[in-house]
Amino acid sequence: MTRVEEQYEQACKYLAGGVSASTRLNRALGHPMLVDRADGCRIWDLDGREYIDLCCSHGATLLGHGDPRVRQAVESVLQRGAACSYENELHTRLAQLLCATVPCCERVRFTGSGTEATMHCLRLARAFTGRTKVLKFEGNFHGYHDQVMYAIGTPADRLGPEDAPTLYPGSSGLPAGFEQNLVVVPYNRPDLLEAAFALHGSELAAVFCEPIYYNAGCIVPSAEFLTALRRLTQAHGVLLIFDEVLSAFRMAPGGAQEYLGVTPDLCTLGKAVGGSYPLSVFGGRADIMERLMPQGNCQHSGTYNGHPVAVAAALAAVTTYCQSGFYEHIHALAARLYDGLNEIFAHRAVPGRVQGLGARFGIYFGVPEPIRNYRDAVRHHRETMLQFIAAAARRGVYFHDYGGAACHHGFCAAMTLADADETLNRLDEAASELRSR
Ligand SMILES: Cc1ncc(COP(=O)(O)O)c(C=O)c1O
Repeated sequence: MTRVEEQYEQACKYLAGGVSASTRLNRALGHPMLVDRADGCRIWDLDGREYIDLCCSHGATLLGHGDPRVRQAVESVLQRGAACSYENELHTRLAQLLCATVPCCERVRFTGSGTEATMHCLRLARAFTGRTKVLKFEGNFHGYHDQVMYAIGTPADRLGPEDAPTLYPGSSGLPAGFEQNLVVVPYNRPDLLEAAFALHGSELAAVFCEPIYYNAGCIVPSAEFLTALRRLTQAHGVLLIFDEVLSAFRMAPGGAQEYLGVTPDLCTLGKAVGGSYPLSVFGGRADIMERLMPQGNCQHSGTYNGHPVAVAAALAAVTTYCQSGFYEHIHALAARLYDGLNEIFAHRAVPGRVQGLGARFGIYFGVPEPIRNYRDAVRHHRETMLQFIAAAARRGVYFHDYGGAACHHGFCAAMTLADADETLNRLDEAASELRSR
């Protein structure tokens, strides 16, 4: 037995399912990644095996593991006692930096996880508009709270018609009736969005959306879809919320809203914002954010909100993302990796294709291009993907499998172009193991 297998067996005796979070099991490997140490773009498992990390903490690690700037910021807070549940000067400095960097943010609030950010943001949208219903896009993921756990991970044979997608529950235990507050529309379909607004426009508090749909790999919205989204929400007094938990800082300092040139009313930021520490943010128009207590009457609080260690880490991380040259490096790595991997698939006659933007990407096997929404992505050949992930792990490249329809992968800025080439060499060998389909 390897140390990884032994440790996982031990973990299963005490941790439910052997993990702290359900999606940490990597089905391609049959166990979670059990990490001994991490440095830059690499991780080492308990058996000392080295991997180039293309999971990057599910997107939380954008600078690199153990980044010295983040570490120094964290250590300085620890030295001063790390008193939590009080305000300090770093909260304001981070808030000021985010308001200067993220287009829609005139005011922000801190929370601990992406799930909390989306939950509070939705409550605020309802408080502001006095309406209850929310429009979400089929397959878009907004965290684990009950209100948004529908139409995610829907099996291909349960999707229902395009103009009335199934409100497939993403978990058991959801209270009956919650789904009645949701209107679901397939992503990238301005015609169906228009039709949904004609029916429900006056009842909607918000449209909640992944502005780059990374949870299905990487899907960039069409210009027509984005135009319809902003026009219809404005016309019907509906708040447009961009869930940038995964997209924030991925391709531009101002996230997808800067990249796409569309400013929502509110947004959520998570993962990369904390520089690998647990911080998330929601923010937006001042007149909406002022509805939060103590100014207004909409509750948002939490003992660990804006924990000083996470805030210090976030300040160091976001300051680094804003430095000149940061995104040039990200885009150079992206071009090298995505073009290189597409060439490998072509040369090895593997029916795989990469769609990527900035530091995150999806790999799709056995589906015709382009992938425009969940309905396209869910038809990918999962068995080939699992084989590829397992082969890549044997060659020293770590991809995570989320157990659902599609997976998102990513790299970090600590990667060099030489590391990217090494990654491609290893993946070429992995691809050679796949039978041509
Ligand atoms: C777009 C989006 N929103 C919300 C969440 C939930 O964030 P967390 O896992 O930090 O609760 C995720 C997590 O993957 C996400 O990708």
